[in-house]
Amino acid sequence: MKEQNHGKLKRDFQGLYRKLIVASVVVAIGGIALIYFNVDPNLSAFKGDEPDTEIVDMPVEVDFDKIENGIHLRTGFIDAPGMTETIQNCTNCHSSKLVIQNRMNAERWKSTIKWMQETQNLWELGENETVIINYLVTNYPPKKVGRRAALTDVEWYQLKE
Ligand code: HEC
Repeated sequence: MKEQNHGKLKRDFQGLYRKLIVASVVVAIGGIALIYFNVDPNLSAFKGDEPDTEIVDMPVEVDFDKIENGIHLRTGFIDAPGMTETIQNCTNCHSSKLVIQNRMNAERWKSTIKWMQETQNLWELGENETVIINYLVTNYPPKKVGRRAALTDVEWYQLKE
C-alpha cells in the first residue's frame, strides 16, 4: 500500500518536472526569439541570399555624373557650359585635378593644349577647343597673385654671433 502510494507520488512528480522543463524551454526559445527580433527586426538572416535590391537597382549612370552644389562629383569640375566637352577631352590621360589646379589665361591654355597635341598625342579638338578654353578661363581664371600682405606684430630678435 505504502509502496503504491510512493510510486504514484513519484509519477506525479515526474509529470510535473517534465511540464516544468517544457515550460522553461518554451520561455527560453521565446526569449531568444524576442531578443533576436529586436536586434534584427527584418529577420534578414533567414531570408537567404537574395541580392540587396537597394544597391542593385540604383541607376549607375545617374550617380556617375552626379552634380552637387554646382560641382560634378566624379571630376570636381564646376558645372557650367563647356564642362561636358572638357570632361570628354581632358580627363582621358590625366586626372581632372591636373586641369583644375592650373589656372591660366586663354593664351596659355591654347599653348598648353598645343603642347599636349605636339608631344602627348592629344587629338585635334576642332570646335571644342574654343568651348573648352572658354570654360576653363571662365571657371578657372588665373588667380591674382599680388604681394603678400605686410607683416604686422612681428617680434624681431637679434642674431647672436
Ligand atoms: C592624349 C592625352 C592627353 C589629353 C587628352 C589631355 N592631356 Fe593634358 N597632359 C597630358 C600629359 C601626358 C601631360 C603631362 C602630365 C605630367 O606632366 O604628369 C599633360 C599635362 C597637362 C597639364 C599640366 C601642364 C603643365 O604645364 O604642367 C594641363 C594643365 C593639362 N594637361 C590640361 C589638359 C586639358 C585642358 C586637356 C583637354 C583639352 C588635356 N590636358 C587633355 C596628356 C593629355
